[in-house]
Amino acid sequence: MPLQAHTGSSPLQALQLPVLSNNLNHLFPVADLVRTPVQHQEAQAVDPRTTRLPLLRCPSNSARNLIPGPHVHEIITDEPSQLRVNQAGELAATLIYKAQTPLVVRQHPHLRPLMAHMYDQEAGHFATFNNLIHKHRVRPTALYPLWSVLATGLGWSTALMGREAAMACTEAVETEIGDHYNNQIREILEMITQWEAEGYEVSAEIGELVKTLRRIRDEELEHLDHAVEHDAKKAEPHWLLTGVIRAGCRGAIWVSERV
Ligand SMILES: [Fe+2]
Ligand SMILES: [Fe+2]
Repeated sequence: MPLQAHTGSSPLQALQLPVLSNNLNHLFPVADLVRTPVQHQEAQAVDPRTTRLPLLRCPSNSARNLIPGPHVHEIITDEPSQLRVNQAGELAATLIYKAQTPLVVRQHPHLRPLMAHMYDQEAGHFATFNNLIHKHRVRPTALYPLWSVLATGLGWSTALMGREAAMACTEAVETEIGDHYNNQIREILEMITQWEAEGYEVSAEIGELVKTLRRIRDEELEHLDHAVEHDAKKAEPHWLLTGVIRAGCRGAIWVSERV
C-alpha cells in the first residue's frame, strides 16, 4: 500500500505494522513461547489460593511426556535464505547511513546524534546476524559486493539531494525491512503454535530468537518514525523516490533469497 496514499496518518498506521505487532504480542507473548501446552494445563488446574506446593514443583520432561522440539539451528538451516537476507539488509543499512552521515551532518549539524544513533543500531543488527550466520554456517549472499556498492551509492546520492531525500530513503528502506521482519516473526510464531499443538516442547532459544527479531523490527520502525519526523515526506518527488527505493529493496530481498 503506497505511503503517499495515507497523508495525515503515520506510515506505521498506513501499513498496519503496529497493529499486526500488537496482535501478535497479544496472541503470542514472548513468555508464552517457552511455555509448553502441558504447563498451560498445569497453570489452569492449580488454584494458588488453595495450594502452594504444585506451583513449586518442576517436573522433568519425561514426567510431562513432552517431546523435545526443534532447535534454532533447524529453523535456520530449514530456511537459510531468511538469515542471508537479514545479514545483507543490515549490511546495506550500515553502508547507507555511513555514506549519508558526512553530507547530511555538514549541512545540518543538529542531526549528528540522530544519524549516529541510527548507524549504531544498524551496526548492532549487522553484528547480530553476522554471529548467527557464522554460528549456523549459512552462506552469505553471493551478491554481497554488489549490495555494498549499491547501498553506498544510494546513501551518497540521496544525501547529495538533501536532508529530505536522505530521510525519504530511510523511510522507504525501513518500511520494506519492517515488513520483512514482521513476515519472518509471523512465520516462526506459526511454527511454534503448530509444534505446541503437536506436543513438542519449544526451547527457550527459539523464544530468544523471536525476541531478538522483534527488538530489531521495532528499532527499524523507530528509524522510520525518525525519518518522517525529519521531513522525509517533503522530499521532491517523494512518491518517485520512495517508490523506486522500495521496489529496489523488494528486488534485493528476492534476489538475496535465491543467490
Ligand atoms: Fe537494521
Ligand atoms: Fe534501520
